Amino acid sequence: MALRQAASSAASSAASSPAAGPLSEDVAAQTGSGEELAGPVLQLAPDITADPLSEELAGPVSQLAPDITADADAQLTPDTKKEIVTAAASDSKGDVDVQTDTTLGKTTSDLDTGKSSASAGAADSTPEGPAPPSAVGSGRFPLEKRLGKGCFGEVWAGTDSRTNAQVAVKLEPKETGPDALPSSLNNEYELMHELKTPALQQGFTDVFYFGKQDGFVYLVMEFLSTSLRDCLDECGGKFNVRTTALLGEQLVRRFQYLHSKAIIHRDVKPENFMMGVGSRAHVCHLIDFGLSEKYFVEGRHLLSAKDTLTGTARYSSINAHSYAQSRRDDLEAVGHMLVFMLKGTLPWIDLPAETDDEELQLIHNMKRKSKARELCVGLPDEFGDFLHASRSLGYRERPDYTVLRGMFLKVQQGVESATGSPVQEHQLEYIGAVNPDSLEKMDPWVELEQPDDGNTGLCFCFKAKRNTTT
Ligand SMILES: Nc1ncnc2c1ncn2[C@@H]1O[C@H](COP(=O)(O)OP(=O)(O)O)[C@@H](O)[C@H]1O
Ligand SMILES: [Mg+2]
Repeated sequence: MALRQAASSAASSAASSPAAGPLSEDVAAQTGSGEELAGPVLQLAPDITADPLSEELAGPVSQLAPDITADADAQLTPDTKKEIVTAAASDSKGDVDVQTDTTLGKTTSDLDTGKSSASAGAADSTPEGPAPPSAVGSGRFPLEKRLGKGCFGEVWAGTDSRTNAQVAVKLEPKETGPDALPSSLNNEYELMHELKTPALQQGFTDVFYFGKQDGFVYLVMEFLSTSLRDCLDECGGKFNVRTTALLGEQLVRRFQYLHSKAIIHRDVKPENFMMGVGSRAHVCHLIDFGLSEKYFVEGRHLLSAKDTLTGTARYSSINAHSYAQSRRDDLEAVGHMLVFMLKGTLPWIDLPAETDDEELQLIHNMKRKSKARELCVGLPDEFGDFLHASRSLGYRERPDYTVLRGMFLKVQQGVESATGSPVQEHQLEYIGAVNPDSLEKMDPWVELEQPDDGNTGLCFCFKAKRNTTT
């Protein structure tokens, strides 16, 4: 019900807003990005059937593609998605203010604890809502164990019964009926698919299948091992400098690639990074594109606009509390997360507040007071340099990923000098004894072209404004 209200109000706001100038541009931008998101869906079927795991799925996939394109989800725009985030959270919390709840977004539970809702406790507890099917993909992927549960859905471990390969299946309940609204899983699938085109990159998750069944939408993807949150817990809540510098270097690679595809993540937190399995046990994967969106559309960077927080308050950038996000905000959040990993805390954790709104305000104020280099006192200088550099970027400014990566290489050199032994790329403290020859080598560093490289034109594309009149 709330979902419907949010979407229709977003639609009516776009259609009937009396504002001239920028707002009419907003509508144009919204339409443009919707079309862009709809595009890739049409290309899915050939790609999926070409995928080795999905070859056998030619039947179901050919039925899926029309189903997906016929679905309202194909028209999902990032800002419609935000409305859905709001509405879904409203549903779970009862009678809440839309604006406020959008602020907390998917991260309501993260505000207090910074912890993933995918804790062991949650995974073991009885699920609320409809039970997911016992298998998806026409029975091909039996679901075996729930791995995580968030505001919107669940992630299950399963098996591909044809190959015996382990897979992970992310499911969300789907609204039915003529007014049914899209799930954010469609958007996530489209982005994951785009990220593996033309080739899957190290540190990104392969995605095999997207479908609908028994009142759920689901995607089937490569199975990964443990999240950085779990790794942190294993290590007593903190990582050493070597581990953090190795991770920092990998994360710059992930964001360089993500941003090169014109996508920002918007929900950086340890729960959204997962280590790989087998020969990729040392590769840190960026997951969960449920809040991700395009920042560069039709050859132009979106313009800055006021906005409320999307993401996780504990790690988010200062500007994300009040403005639309861009590349710099992903990187600043990485900086906050790395400090958290090294120190086990941040100054804005556990501030006493009566309400969520008040806590958000206190967090924002404390972040503003905490200068980058002061936050990093006691750590190698480069962590403060990284945070300072990301906080200094302009909204549309292109980050220099090579320079940022160099900061973590310098920390590694410092560790080498201090210990007298070389730092190896697999030496993450939570990885036990392993034969380095059994592990994939890290890809060589390549500077990737960003969408605005060579683009000197003025930007007139306005950020689609969220409707706040609901
Ligand atoms: N590919 C995967 N393999 C194994 N576990 C996964 C995978 N993807 C997600 N998970 C588990 O499910 C949790 C939630 O997944 P995520 O995509 O972040 O969903 P949410 O949108 O609910 O946060 C993760 O923190 C992780 O524990
Ligand atoms: Mg997540």
